[in-house]
Amino acid sequence: MGFENLLVDIADGIATVTVNRPKQLNALDQKTLEELSAAFEQAGRDKGVRALVVTGAGDKAFVAGADIAAMSRLGPAEAREFAALGHRVFGLLEALPIVTVAAVNGFALGGGCELTLACDLVYASERARFGQPEVNLGLVPGFGGTQRLTRRVGPMRAKELVLTGDMVDAPTAKAMGLCLDVVPPEKLLEHARGKARTVASRGPVAVATAKRLIQQGADLPLGEANALERQGFAGLFGGEDAKEGMRAFLEKRPAQWKGT
Ligand code: HXC
Repeated sequence: MGFENLLVDIADGIATVTVNRPKQLNALDQKTLEELSAAFEQAGRDKGVRALVVTGAGDKAFVAGADIAAMSRLGPAEAREFAALGHRVFGLLEALPIVTVAAVNGFALGGGCELTLACDLVYASERARFGQPEVNLGLVPGFGGTQRLTRRVGPMRAKELVLTGDMVDAPTAKAMGLCLDVVPPEKLLEHARGKARTVASRGPVAVATAKRLIQQGADLPLGEANALERQGFAGLFGGEDAKEGMRAFLEKRPAQWKGT
């Protein structure tokens, strides 16, 4: 599918989705969100896609937030719609059964930071800056930032970011748990794709199950979450991949995954 504001490249089982509005620092307007929705759905349907990397075009921004010019024209009902669209798209990304990796090449602000929060793994270039600057605009995060950020970094750090609106540099973001590694800009995409490739080489049903258990469990009391794990673990024994994975180990050969 051709996109106006995205570049999508699929190679080696890894889809790379690049938000491509560099003049607006890759800000998210309605069209870009709708295109992201279509790209994520497509990646979820395509059996050849085993991992997804999200990044931004140019060397300045990952995504500098929702498009402020477009947002400035919205009334309350339209703002509700816009927030709902973002929530839908990021929810879709979060629920993909494959690993999703953010390669944060520059500013990840507001909706851009929220986009990283919907990804499983986040890697940053030395040039990256993270922040939730909405209070500077008289706004609050609206694409899940108050909730996913709190779950990722804890309530006090989330409050510091959201209430001050201040940006943090990449090492600080790493110390807070907003990203995993900080690498030189020219190494970022390959670093992110390398991690994606590692996950993509593992048992796909196990990866999807583990991701689901970690996500669903985080919103449940521990007892229920542990019950979910037992169910997920046992469920794998009904499929081919767990049998194959264990057999391959015992036969000292690489596993041939069937995805069942
Ligand atoms: C629209 C944006 C934009 C944005 C930058 N631009 N961010 N346009 N929406 N979020 C545009 C600028 O207007 C400018 O356009 C061009 O990109 C380059 O940006 P500059 O400001 O000139 O660059 P610089 O001085 O280097 O500053 C970079 C920056 C700054 C620190 C990232 O642009 C900035 O603070 N941007 C806004 C960040 C932000 O507040 N994000 C949160 C948005 S609210 P021209 O035409 O002048 O060249 C949000 C809510 C999500 O995300 C939830 C909604 C429901």
